[in-house]
Amino acid sequence: MILSNNLKKILIIDFGSQFTQLIARRIREFGVYSEIVSHKKLGTNYNSKPIKGIILSGGPLNVYQSKKVKFNNDIFKWKVPILGICFGHQVISKELGGKVKKAKQREFGLARLKRLRKSKLTNNFFNKNGSNAVWMSHADEVIKLAKGFRVVAKTETSKFSIVENSSKKFYGIQFHPEVTHTEKGKIILKNFIFSICHIKKNWSSKNQKQILVEDVKRKLERSKVICALSGGVDSSVVAKLIHSAVGKQLICIFVNTGLLRKNEEIQVRKTFENKFKINLIYVDAKRLFLTKLKNVSDPEKKRKIIGNLFINIFEKYAKKIKNVKFLAQGTLYPDLIESKSVTGSQTSKIKSHHNVGGLPKKMKLKLVEPLRFLFKDEVRKLGLELKLSKEIVYRHPFPGPGLGIRMPGEITERKIKILKEADNIFINSLKEFNLYDKIWQAYAALLPVKTVGVMGDNRTYEHICLLRAITSEDGMTADFFNFSKEFMQLVSNKIINNINGINRVVYDITSKPPSTIELE
Ligand code: XMP
Repeated sequence: MILSNNLKKILIIDFGSQFTQLIARRIREFGVYSEIVSHKKLGTNYNSKPIKGIILSGGPLNVYQSKKVKFNNDIFKWKVPILGICFGHQVISKELGGKVKKAKQREFGLARLKRLRKSKLTNNFFNKNGSNAVWMSHADEVIKLAKGFRVVAKTETSKFSIVENSSKKFYGIQFHPEVTHTEKGKIILKNFIFSICHIKKNWSSKNQKQILVEDVKRKLERSKVICALSGGVDSSVVAKLIHSAVGKQLICIFVNTGLLRKNEEIQVRKTFENKFKINLIYVDAKRLFLTKLKNVSDPEKKRKIIGNLFINIFEKYAKKIKNVKFLAQGTLYPDLIESKSVTGSQTSKIKSHHNVGGLPKKMKLKLVEPLRFLFKDEVRKLGLELKLSKEIVYRHPFPGPGLGIRMPGEITERKIKILKEADNIFINSLKEFNLYDKIWQAYAALLPVKTVGVMGDNRTYEHICLLRAITSEDGMTADFFNFSKEFMQLVSNKIINNINGINRVVYDITSKPPSTIELE
């Protein structure tokens, strides 16, 4: 990709910190392109030309675990500014002749930083009294500085909290400027990239669009490309971007599984087929999905059946199109970054996720993944730049298996119908009360339990509708949203009064963990 090869950038070498992505995002928020590479992958043949500065991330390792802390220390000869954060600071010290040791006292949480001397890195960073609250998280510390370094600031327990070798432009800081708990932490990163690395702004949705469109054109030339469109943000942005680049060479396949949200298929066709005039193959597979899912209650079985059916249908239709060479996918940057596995730890399988993106290996198509260097918020901005509506761009995430995993127990036509209506009432009420954008994801589910109720003078025996609404950064952890009693009452009444088949509404008040966001 041209994008990663030639664009001037700040390179972040990742040692497995949970904050690495945050560093990259902060830098991009300043309008500068930044890229993450695992310390294991930074080979000697790395193209150093477009790199204007390097940041070494924190990490869970110890600098003397020489086998695990392998990296290319040629970077110190590249003549570019280097900033080490936490573990990165210790790596710089150790590599250049200083010493690192287990600290007598671990330092976690807020610490008060005291300025000892001025530095380009800390311009406008310290408060008037020469101190600042910073966020620390370390067990080891630098105990001897490398040659040419001097101290800029310290805390009570860590005497080398900010150090610099200003002639070489190497800097080390023990705390985390990228987290919001560090007062004015962004200023440190800003000073580093603009005053020390002298990189110019090169990253906005407008130029991203131009760069990506050119990239796609160059890659596809005259070949046809297919794309599985789900109506979600990522696949919508991919489709619109590729369409801007190669027009009719793009063919989208949209599978109606019958497990979509109310009227979703109508909206998708209206937007992509009628408004944007994108080639779209609409596959109505409602019956097929329902038949194959008959009598299946096990969540994993449901997920597997839905995922496999989807792939089969997609392949069947894709094969009918002649001369296709490429498959477009909405892979995002966080999916690519391997930092999560830097420590080698295995995560246990909670659910087998099905994503319309993960398709289909057998077809021997080449991949186009134009969003692979973007974070979700950047994808959203790009979507707006591409003239997608706010409704599509800011839509809550929706799982690949759709409503199929929002009705524990058997999936039936009647349940789907009830659930679509309940979900629609809930989501519309959120929009009406200006709550939709404050919530990361919300949905209604139908529980397989029936309970007794009374309506008018009659006894009812119907299903329970569960409502879930969460706040989250990335779906990895989540907290339930706090609604007012009035709002809950209104939604509950609307659902029960309008939908036959539900006589009780409950609200899910679990966070993730211990629960997951979806029920299955
Ligand atoms: P969980 O339930 O694992 O959900 O806490 C986390 C986020 O992932 C979404 N999700 C999926 N997305 N295919 C997807 O594309 C799937 O199979 C899938 N399962 C869950 C879920 O909606 C939430 O946003």
